[in-house]
Amino acid sequence: MKIKDLEFNEFISESRVLESVQTLAETISNDYESLSPVFLPVLNGSFMFASDLIKRVTIPSRVSFVKVSSYEGTNSSGQLKTLVGIDESLFNQNIIIVEDIVDTGFTLEKIMAELKSLGTKSVEVVTLLRKTPAREKNIHVKYVGFDIHDEFVLGYGLDYDGLGRNYKDIYKAAR
Ligand code: IMP
Repeated sequence: MKIKDLEFNEFISESRVLESVQTLAETISNDYESLSPVFLPVLNGSFMFASDLIKRVTIPSRVSFVKVSSYEGTNSSGQLKTLVGIDESLFNQNIIIVEDIVDTGFTLEKIMAELKSLGTKSVEVVTLLRKTPAREKNIHVKYVGFDIHDEFVLGYGLDYDGLGRNYKDIYKAAR
């Protein structure tokens, strides 16, 4: 399949994705029994994963969506990221951030710091995919669907320049 200038090949089929999602949902349901967690999917990439995951969770839960906005800052890295969409008090709540993919972990570190500053009770992360850099940097991610190498992936919510979020399987760019 060709999208813009890149050729993509199937990487993880929908059925393998859903098997992993089922396992994650069962583990979270056990770990959070009687804790009524708040799932916080980070848009846009996590919308499919969040939907499949949360409907398989069997304990009473809340769901609230957030988005990360980047803007030019004045620090040396040039980019500051802030969370938008927090519309209810997360104070004293057990938060589970739902991510599609953790690459360097930069985005996640920002989100976690911001959530902790709101006085949340606990903050954990579930991600469908985790790339090598986050693993090497020991970014704390409690629940991981698939550990993958440093390759560019698309589909199941993940995009390439805005395209490809709609596919039900996950593809990777040919080298
Ligand atoms: P990080 O801050 O480097 O961990 O980047 C995380 C974000 O980059 C993810 O939430 C995605 O939006 C995007 N991203 C990283 N790797 C990929 C990829 O392989 N395909 C699509 N988006 C990606």
